[in-house]
Amino acid sequence: MNEQVTAYLEEHHDRFLEELKDLLRIPSISADSKYANDVRLGAQFIHQQLESMGCDTELVETAGHPIVYGEWLKAEGAPTVLVYGHYDVQPPDPLDEWISPPFEPTIRDEHIYARGATDDKGQMFTHVKSVEAWLKTVGELPVNVKFVIEGEEEVGGENLDEFLKNNQDRCRADVAVVSDTAQYGPGIPAITYGLRGIVACEIHLQGPSQDLHSGVFGGAVANPVNVLARLIASLHDDAGHCQIPGFYDDVVPLTDEERQNFAALPFDDAEFAQSLGISGTFGEAGYSTLERRWGRPTCDVNGITGGYQGEGPKTIVPAKASAKITCRLVPNQNADAILASLESYLRGQLPPGIQLTFRRFHGCPAVVCDLNSPYMAAARRAVAVGFGKEPVLIREGGSIPVVGSFKEFLGIDTLLLGWGQNTDNLHSPNEKFSLSAFRQGILASAALWHELANNS
Ligand code: BES
Ligand code: MN
Ligand code: MN
Repeated sequence: MNEQVTAYLEEHHDRFLEELKDLLRIPSISADSKYANDVRLGAQFIHQQLESMGCDTELVETAGHPIVYGEWLKAEGAPTVLVYGHYDVQPPDPLDEWISPPFEPTIRDEHIYARGATDDKGQMFTHVKSVEAWLKTVGELPVNVKFVIEGEEEVGGENLDEFLKNNQDRCRADVAVVSDTAQYGPGIPAITYGLRGIVACEIHLQGPSQDLHSGVFGGAVANPVNVLARLIASLHDDAGHCQIPGFYDDVVPLTDEERQNFAALPFDDAEFAQSLGISGTFGEAGYSTLERRWGRPTCDVNGITGGYQGEGPKTIVPAKASAKITCRLVPNQNADAILASLESYLRGQLPPGIQLTFRRFHGCPAVVCDLNSPYMAAARRAVAVGFGKEPVLIREGGSIPVVGSFKEFLGIDTLLLGWGQNTDNLHSPNEKFSLSAFRQGILASAALWHELANNS
């Protein structure tokens, strides 16, 4: 690694942290249209950063929130790296569970606390700062870099795909880099080579045209909440197998080698359960917890509504009920086919008097990346430089839709270099990012440009 670069990182680290705090103060909540202007401020902040360090940039307008594009392409003959991140964040609710307010970044116990600290502002920013360090010291980068930083990741927006489709030449690269996952554990840096995909839907059951007296009418009409409960119960058998017809048909089974690799990672089921406040783990029979989380598909109800929720009893047959459902997918499963099968499975169980409306949302397929590419080898070395330890290779259960899009539209693999921890409370109150991960992530990123140039 270049000494001028490391010296610059040391010297300017406090300012980097202050800048990250400025970014975290912007409530760029993509799901809530009230915050549309703040989302734009988030985009402008990143745009300004890339601009001032010498990238050619564009704030790209979309049908939704803007995309920030920036490029530095003067490393002739060297590989081109596409850096992706997202500047939008999840809503901060429930607000009263935050120890310090979500958009007032606060440092406590060696972490920075704020919505977006780890997902993804803090992680994404490490790449912005490492590029700045190279350009402000050496005056050039060892590789060509293209930044695509979006503002609709948390709402599964389709505008980024549109942008990639329409700008394939502009986005052309040899490999993508994304820091939006986690290390394996504290002090155990990791590179993630697989992610699950996702499909989402919402179901509405309509019974009678309004709530009815349950004494006068109960027993003579189907109750939408009762029916919803039956439908949900029909999704799994007692051994945790999903019962949607054909659900596992296309699943690529985990290889013995992969199962051995998972089993070789330090993992304690009881400790894991305890950390979640539960008395034990539960899932599909025949698989370990890591296998269930990383390599097996799931079907989860995210929320249900229906009937009377107020104080005291109320004797009604409710008129309607609804639920939101997501399935996590593994490689080779087809999102549309899963939703089609789910819909017809549910429709086949409806009693007379209940109407089902099935609303489909956009999904994304699972991805598994090449472990033997020269880019992967370079990334392993760079993470070792930044974190002082060889990374372990893992898969993750979460989804990053753009990784599949990079494969589809640009034909490239993604290096998932996660600096976070799964205990960073992402999507939850008191989200945080470790100060040392911020420092080490910037260093690993700075080393990555050098390693990619030397190995590809
Ligand atoms: N950064 C996460 C995904 C993630 C988190 C992957 C931890 C692996 C480990 C991302 O921002 C996210 O929340 N993705 C959503 C995607 C959905 C909204 C389409 C997810 O996984 O629920
Ligand atoms: Mn994220
Ligand atoms: Mn997220």
